[in-house]
Amino acid sequence: MSDTQQNIIGAGVPRIDGPDKLAGRANYAADNLSPDMAYGYGVFSTIAKGKVTRLDVDEAKRMPGVIDIFHHDHFPSLYRTPSSFVQGNKVEETRLPFEDERVYYEGQFVALVVADSFENARAAARHVKVEYASESAVANLAQGLEDNGTQAGGGHSRGDAASAFDSADTTIDVTYHTPVETHNPMEMHASVAYWDAQGNLTIYDASQGVVVERNALSKIFAIAPERITVHAPYIGSGFGSKLWTWPHAIATAAVSRELGRPVQLVVPRQQMFTTTGHRPETRQRMRLATDGNGKLVSLRHEAINTTSFTDQYVETCGSVTKSLYSCPDLTVSHATTQVNRGTPTSMRAPGAAPGLFALESAIDEMALAAGVDPVQFRLDNYAERDESQDLDFSSNHIVEATKQAAERFGWHERNPQIGSMREGREIVGYGMAACNWEALKRPCDARVSLRADGTAFASCATQDIGTGTYTIVAQAVSDVTGIPIDRITVKLGDSSYPDGPISGGSWATATTLPAIAGAARNALDELKRYATGSNGIFAEASADDLSVADGALRYDGKQASFAEVLDAARYGSADGEAHTEAADSKYSYRSFGAHFVEVRWDPGISHLRVSRVVSAIDVGKVINETTARNQVEGAVVMGVGMGLFEATEYDERNGRPVNNDYAEYVVPVHADQPEIDVILLDYPDLAFNEYGARGIGEIGITGLAAAIGNAVHHATGKRIRELPITLDKLMDDVPQAQSA
Ligand code: MOS
Repeated sequence: MSDTQQNIIGAGVPRIDGPDKLAGRANYAADNLSPDMAYGYGVFSTIAKGKVTRLDVDEAKRMPGVIDIFHHDHFPSLYRTPSSFVQGNKVEETRLPFEDERVYYEGQFVALVVADSFENARAAARHVKVEYASESAVANLAQGLEDNGTQAGGGHSRGDAASAFDSADTTIDVTYHTPVETHNPMEMHASVAYWDAQGNLTIYDASQGVVVERNALSKIFAIAPERITVHAPYIGSGFGSKLWTWPHAIATAAVSRELGRPVQLVVPRQQMFTTTGHRPETRQRMRLATDGNGKLVSLRHEAINTTSFTDQYVETCGSVTKSLYSCPDLTVSHATTQVNRGTPTSMRAPGAAPGLFALESAIDEMALAAGVDPVQFRLDNYAERDESQDLDFSSNHIVEATKQAAERFGWHERNPQIGSMREGREIVGYGMAACNWEALKRPCDARVSLRADGTAFASCATQDIGTGTYTIVAQAVSDVTGIPIDRITVKLGDSSYPDGPISGGSWATATTLPAIAGAARNALDELKRYATGSNGIFAEASADDLSVADGALRYDGKQASFAEVLDAARYGSADGEAHTEAADSKYSYRSFGAHFVEVRWDPGISHLRVSRVVSAIDVGKVINETTARNQVEGAVVMGVGMGLFEATEYDERNGRPVNNDYAEYVVPVHADQPEIDVILLDYPDLAFNEYGARGIGEIGITGLAAAIGNAVHHATGKRIRELPITLDKLMDDVPQAQSA
């Protein structure tokens, strides 16, 4: 760290990409237009299972501007890509577009019209006549279990949970259910592809992983990765839906090569619900037991999630259960059941988000059954080390997070009696839950240049999906060099830059910053060599004698700016690259926290709202106070959606999605927002990386829905074990469909 920049790490530096976004200078994938561009529009299956028996494109082909219409009998032959894995989970569809006539889900591409304008392509797509042989679809998790049972998806076991349960004082055995939720980033999936005369592919794609996508396309087109460039400088968020390469991007690149011109394809909002992933439906059976002192003695978390018939995607609901609480006898199991839906994928805090709804609701039920206050129950049972891996946590402040949040929230004012806290017509409920997410740091490369004009340039093939990555990279360069933020240019989202991580898994901060800092230090070393060279500005000094401050080198009371050093030696820049490795496995690296939620239930008009949330989050060092707080606040908003509103519904008769649009897929709006108070604990985790940061994108959504459900129980006495907690489930006279 340079002498004068000690406060840049942690400061609430505004997003450096903000002005470009506000001024409309930020180009998103679909903004990359060119004069000879052709436009694709899909024809999407209207059945969930069966075969295309006839495709009549004659009329559509005669429509204005139509260039070609692709389908399973007319599509270039491509190669498969092995699916990508994240934390052991397969995460992308391995089937190629238009492989054959089979239909596995409603909304699957069955044809792709390419025309000279978007409007012409869309109009013609509506004149492609498709006939199907429809088969009876597997429409939901319950039908999947009947139809194909389960496929094993891994787990963890220690001790003998069954016998510990059978001999325990107090037990609960409850089953939770979560629906399909669909990522709804503002920016729709979009791809723009073109091939140059030498057969090199350039693709602008809404992608959370330009390197992963380049490597996948390299396999699919069987050309060297160096001949493919994936650009994603700006992404209108993704929440996980843009981590992997979906059929539309592959199809866009393929037809662009066939037609010899650039092609743009935007996935319509309705197909964002069908062909670009979703969080799967889950059923989770929780069996917990305590001894006479309210100590957990047995914990079983058995989760089943829906997957597609083409790939197995495991939602690792028990990933947190293994290590959050101390319990000698514990079993976590994951399994899937196949349904006629597109392949699910990671959605913000995959596994943990639905998993902690079940775990943290069940812990609340267990605490009440054991007669212990839910906060005290957690404090009594939190694990002090990771018992699943037999490792110490690198840094764990969940006790302090829980206590601080309880204090700020006013938990001590809670009257535990159900429905006892009234304000006017409303019944107030207090609930809380722990939150938790793993910390991962992957290998990373980065480059930093100190330039003769006094500016710095940093690049890495990671992305900024709106979270603030551009800004924290600039902060790291500024931290090492002392160059002010406004003279630092950061370039991300280009697969030709040094290899960087996906913007996912909350990996990017911990992975990217050490590589950036290393590259900046290497650039400074080069600069010092220039300064101490024979025609250098400090030729009499040795490099070790120089210090760095404020974008200048200092020696013996004299100071020369980087620009002066470079100018004297006639170099245009001093450059550094660095490679950093994945985290070691000496510790269990995880982030921790607690949510406290107030709900208000008006039984007179059956109105429920989340009125207040206090969250205390322990993610190691906070790099940027503003963007970090913003991530937790956004995750809380998304958690309110998960708790009260979000569910992608499928017709149980035929497996067709019925609310796959913005009108009927309900997300929270401004009027649904609680007061949100985020406490960032800010304990650097220096065993994890030099900045001590663990990443913050996902943890905020974990546990939030459970905290809401626990508060709803406190207000109403109703334990809703099926998300979302809609009003019908709380009204007294409405027949219940829920499994609870
Ligand atoms: Mo996140 S689900 O890893 O984008």
